Amino acid sequence: MDHDVNLARDCRSFFTHLECSLTGELYEADQIHGLSNAGRPLLVRYDLKALGAAISRADIEARPTDMWRWRELLPVRNRNDIVSLGEIETPLIPIPRSGGARVLVKDEGRLPTGSFKARGLVMAVSMAKALGISRIAMPTNGNAGAALAAYASRCGIETIIFCPDDTPEINVREIALQGARVWRVNGLIDDCGAIVGEGAKQGRWFDFSTLKEPYRIEGKKTMGLELAAQFSWKLPDAIFYPTGGGTGLIGMWKAFAELEALGWIGSKRPRMFAVQATGCAPIVKAFDDGVEHADRWEDAHTVAAGIRVPRAVGDFLILRAVRESGGRALAVDDDAILKAVDDTAKQDGLLMCPEGGATLAAYRRALSEGLVGERDEIVLFNCSTGLKYPMPEAPQSLDRTKPIDFDAL
Ligand SMILES: Cc1ncc(COP(=O)(O)O)c(C=O)c1O
Repeated sequence: MDHDVNLARDCRSFFTHLECSLTGELYEADQIHGLSNAGRPLLVRYDLKALGAAISRADIEARPTDMWRWRELLPVRNRNDIVSLGEIETPLIPIPRSGGARVLVKDEGRLPTGSFKARGLVMAVSMAKALGISRIAMPTNGNAGAALAAYASRCGIETIIFCPDDTPEINVREIALQGARVWRVNGLIDDCGAIVGEGAKQGRWFDFSTLKEPYRIEGKKTMGLELAAQFSWKLPDAIFYPTGGGTGLIGMWKAFAELEALGWIGSKRPRMFAVQATGCAPIVKAFDDGVEHADRWEDAHTVAAGIRVPRAVGDFLILRAVRESGGRALAVDDDAILKAVDDTAKQDGLLMCPEGGATLAAYRRALSEGLVGERDEIVLFNCSTGLKYPMPEAPQSLDRTKPIDFDAL
């Protein structure tokens, strides 16, 4: 069948080695790695020269549009290791009434497990399978845990997941239902990360925290690859990304660099807007202070659980990408986030998650402050289906055995 084509064929990955994102130290491919010796994320590198000689943009365009059309630019070598649940290319949905004439939402809620975490986790779990890892632990604000549980269960990898105790109930239950052992912890995601780190140090499991293993970012990179193809190998003027760990923003920035090295896009880059909530905005503070690393944000709180990340191991990579792009880090408050969700649902028929709402709220702010213009082509990321989140009550009911006042309906 058409959608299986990209997975059915044998295909060479041009993955050559890994590199420390801080020091440039090199690491061998096809071995188990966590962070670099300097304690920083490792980035996957490819032989882009050979890749460019082997395939062209036209070859990519001739393939079905799912995530696996990019296999040469991804690390999994053997197709039998790919633990797919059907990772489609996500559509760009115009929101002309709540956003504007040139505002598109990349709707990641349509991916397996209902969020963009599927991109990173399908890649990381496939690589774990390839490398023979049998037990994984991860801290999560919800969606990443759900995606890990799904892919790991599918290939028989044991999974232990820790989430803050006020993680949305549906996330905790979907994680459990999908076969992981899930624990609520009375702390935030970095407190959960400390438990995972300690267990990993004791040799109990492999640490799957975002950016602490090298392959989730390669999955998230496909958001940038897709955008390039969807925009006919040009790119939008600005991207608004809800930033917790920032893996997607860093991944897209990496994708654009690789595509330019291949000669598939030019040097023009979108302005990258890292969007956070005013109740948890460490990257915004570091951006405004002009520093390379962010301090931990104390008393983090926001309705947008996915971006309640007090400390990001890739902070300097997020900040570099935002600065190089000429973008900004912006914080928006919970009222603006919830209003944006409500407006898009009522005016454009698209039900976004709060993190997606944050990107619209930030776009509105950027527009009012002149950071973007109405003629700019804008992409907002809606990272999860809005169906996973609490919604306002709808309490009205009708007794069909009594006379109905049709005028009041
Ligand atoms: C819906 C949603 N949006 C945004 C994020 C933040 O993603 P990242 O860690 O890539 O910054 C998350 C992460 O949990 C999420 O679940």
